This record gives sequence, C-alpha cells and structure tokens, in this order.
Amino acid sequence: MVNTALITGSYGGLGTCFVGIHAERGGDLILVGRSQAKLEAQAKEVEEKYHVTVHTIAADLSAPEAAQNIYDTCKSNSWTVDVLINNAGFGGRGDFTRERTMEQDMSMIAVNIETPTRLMKLFLSDMVKRGSGKVLNVSSTAATLPGPLQAVYYATKAYVTSVSNAIWRELQGTGVTVTALMPGAMRTGFADTGGLADTKLFSNAVDPKQVALDGYNGMLKGELNVISGLPGMQKPMMSLAPMFPKKAMLNFVYNQQIAGSADK
Ligand SMILES: NC(=O)c1ccc[n+]([C@@H]2O[C@H](COP(=O)([O-])OP(=O)(O)OC[C@H]3O[C@@H](n4cnc5c(N)ncnc54)[C@H](OP(=O)(O)O)[C@@H]3O)[C@@H](O)[C@H]2O)c1
Repeated sequence: MVNTALITGSYGGLGTCFVGIHAERGGDLILVGRSQAKLEAQAKEVEEKYHVTVHTIAADLSAPEAAQNIYDTCKSNSWTVDVLINNAGFGGRGDFTRERTMEQDMSMIAVNIETPTRLMKLFLSDMVKRGSGKVLNVSSTAATLPGPLQAVYYATKAYVTSVSNAIWRELQGTGVTVTALMPGAMRTGFADTGGLADTKLFSNAVDPKQVALDGYNGMLKGELNVISGLPGMQKPMMSLAPMFPKKAMLNFVYNQQIAGSADK
C-alpha cells in the first residue's frame, strides 16, 4: 500500500532509518525537523534514491504552536497523513536539582510529551473519520522505571507509553492504531546531545536500523508495544526488573548514568 508518512526528527539517527524503510516500500513522506537545510538535503536524497514524493516542514517542536502549524500546513496543501511517526525527542544527563536548568527540562517536556500529544489530537480525528491510519510513538525502555540522573527524560517516556497504550484501546474498531516503540540504547545522536556518551548506559548501544524496522513492522500490525534493541541479557533483565527492590533499581540506574561510568 502506498501512503504518506509524516516523520518528526526525520534526519536524526532513528528518524533516518524510518524514512528509508517507508520510502523503500514506495511511500511518500512529510519530513519534519528544525533545520530547513537538513530537511531539503534529506528530501532531495530520498526522492532521487526511491522516486517518491517528499515534502518538508521546518518546525521547532519545543514551541507550543508547532503541532498546529504542522497540521495546518498539511491541510492547506491537501497532504493526507496516513502514518504519523512521533520520533523526535531528546534526553539529558544531570542532577534534577543542581544541574538541569528549568529551560532544558521544560523544553524536553514540550518535545517529548506536549507536541506528540498535540499531533495525535490533530491527526487522529482525521484518521478515525477515514477509518484508517497508523501512529508510532517512539518511547523507550526508560518508560519502565524511574531514571535518576535523567529524571525528566524517563518520566516523559513513561508518559509516551502510557498515553499510547490507553489510546490504542480507545481506538479499537476504528481501523486506526497507536503503537509505542521502546528501544534500548542506540548509536544515534542521542547520547552526544544528552551528555551520555561516556556512561555505562551506552556501552552496548545498538545500531538503530533493526530497531526502526521492528517498530515500523509492529506499527503496521497495530501492536501495542514493541521492545527492541536490547542485546544479550538486557531483555530478560528488563522483564525481571519489577521484581527487584525499587531502591536497588534506583541505585542501579543512577550508577549507569554517572559521567565517565563507561570506563569503570
Ligand atoms: N538513542 C537512544 O539510545 C534512544 C533510546 C530510546 C529511545 N530513543 C528515542 O528515539 C527517538 C529518536 O532519537 P535518536 O536516538 O534518533 O536521537 P537523535 O539522533 O539525536 O535524533 C533526534 C531527532 O530529534 C530532533 N529534535 C530534537 N529536538 C527537536 C526540536 N526542538 N524540534 C525539532 N526536532 C527536534 C533532532 O533534530 P536536531 O538535530 O535538529 O536537534 C533529531 O532529528 C527519540 O524520541 C529518543 O528519545 C533513543
């Protein structure tokens, strides 16, 4: 089926993979990101390589009006969004009280929570009216537990999985689905942006390609959650995590995210 996917954070590590997967299947694209120059370069490359139609919308997703502007741009150009991939997001290492600034954490909440929620509110009602549509929200395995030294980031992802799962149930029978993708640590721009590159958490980070493919395929099937990118013992450890005492888990996550912990 040829359809159009709107992908936020399209030129980031995971976003680039989603773009390639969708275009390879003959799907058209609406690429959303902050840098118009990067969007245009990506659009040109994708059009030449896959012979699909690619539109771009430059938007800073931390702005409260971003989602409405994106929706209005699609409407005024008669671009139908069949697939919405809320992929843009960022983390940031640091003590909540003594290191992270108000601006950093509020901007994170806007990009990771507010704008994806607004985009769903706007695009889902059109999808339901048409009786078809797919949404993939990029959450994280961080959604499953609190994250000392990335307190707000982990909480934003808990929100993403929770809201996605609740809406998944509400949409039953409409032909529209919402899937949450929960990746482990991946080799993308994320670790550098968040000051996490030298932490234990990123010692075994995986290539994002398989994670994107798992998420995309899970979205097409309308799955609830897709967990991907956990090498070795990480996947069984994750399912056992709720059985460990909470204070021990908080210590574990804290130690994983101490600056320089990768070498220890
Ligand atoms: N990498 C991991 O270990 C990991 C693990 C679990 C979940 N995730 C999630 O995966 C998703 C994709 O991240 P990634 O790993 O691919 O990281 P990435 O390479 O840093 O890509 C993030 C993308 O989000 C965009 N973005 C950030 N802030 C934005 C803003 N204010 N307005 C518009 N775009 C903005 C970035 O654009 P700019 O370059 O212009 O900032 C970039 O295109 C995120 O939701 C992240 O939370 C990542």
